Amino acid sequence: VSRRSEPDLPAIESPLTPALTVEDLEAAARERLPAMVFDYYAGGSGEEWTLRENRRAYERWVIRPRVLVDVSNVDLRATVLGEELPFPILLAPTAFQRMAHRYGEVATAGGAAALDAVMVVSTIATATLEEIAATGVRRWFQLYVLKDRDLTATLVKRAHAAGYGAVVLTVDTPLLGRRLRDERNKFSLPPGIGLANLEGSGLPESEGSGLSSFFQDRHDASLTWDDVSWLRSLSPLPLVLKGILTAEDARLAVDIGAGAIVVSNHGGRQLDGAPATLDVLPEIVEAAGGRTEVLVDGGIRRGSDVFKALALGARAVLVGRPYLWGLAVNGAEGVQQVLEILRDDLIHTMALAGRARVADIDRSAVAAAPRAPERGDDR
Ligand code: GLV
Repeated sequence: VSRRSEPDLPAIESPLTPALTVEDLEAAARERLPAMVFDYYAGGSGEEWTLRENRRAYERWVIRPRVLVDVSNVDLRATVLGEELPFPILLAPTAFQRMAHRYGEVATAGGAAALDAVMVVSTIATATLEEIAATGVRRWFQLYVLKDRDLTATLVKRAHAAGYGAVVLTVDTPLLGRRLRDERNKFSLPPGIGLANLEGSGLPESEGSGLSSFFQDRHDASLTWDDVSWLRSLSPLPLVLKGILTAEDARLAVDIGAGAIVVSNHGGRQLDGAPATLDVLPEIVEAAGGRTEVLVDGGIRRGSDVFKALALGARAVLVGRPYLWGLAVNGAEGVQQVLEILRDDLIHTMALAGRARVADIDRSAVAAAPRAPERGDDR
């Protein structure tokens, strides 16, 4: 969905200075979003240590540039789950996108489709799976297994029927992390916005975070590795496990035949005190031993971050908050702009580092930073 097919959209005032970075768009999004919405997207759990640690981890590595390499053509293509992607950056699942923009997930899909990027659509999206599919975006479906297993099965079958290319099971959320910002704000959905794929449900009335109550009421905290074969029986789609942080679980994921793993701490929103994803990426890549693909998310804000993650063994990365800021500021075009900022920054980094193809970004492309910031030293 481009702006051209949304003639009723009010014109967006151009910001005084064009956004050059994800942080520029975050600042603009913060200006325009209600505080409850901004806090929900931006916040983490507990004291937000893991949230900050995801960013700090990127500062603990430097890039080792090679010179006199022909970088007149930088090739970003990468293959993920057998699909050739124009660049190794996917859109992570994020919930409730109509809070950021009136067209929510449909606008995000338009921005992603313009660049042929994969969008992972959340179970708790505010547009239907079919509406999003109608944009033609490349799409995977993120699944929360609900206590209502029939409803869960229906969701997976709908996703398969609507052309989603993978089921991404989130495994780090038996219950919701304690998001103190949301508890203080008594987070709930603004009027007129609902969980579009879960018939008739908004969020329950709550003294604290309505989303936390939703998880308590509806989400199945009893899910184990034994349930995965049931899940796989629901559709022929490849299964991706999102939220793996240890070599032990990576090996179990390989054993159950996961097509891919996403090394993720849910953007610092679940277990506070969990490690930065970049810090555990190497052990997971080693444990996976090439038998399942390894992706990573958390804290990626620039091309050099993508580069470092690829050097440490990720096949591709996912970003969440960055495109939400673009969505809030400028709908589909804003999402596209964020992806272009990251993509172009990656091209720039690769050229200056003397790595013309994604496959050239190997472990020798990075080294531990000589003077890492002190642990606990917030930026
Ligand atoms: C939903 O999955 C969230 O992290 O808020």
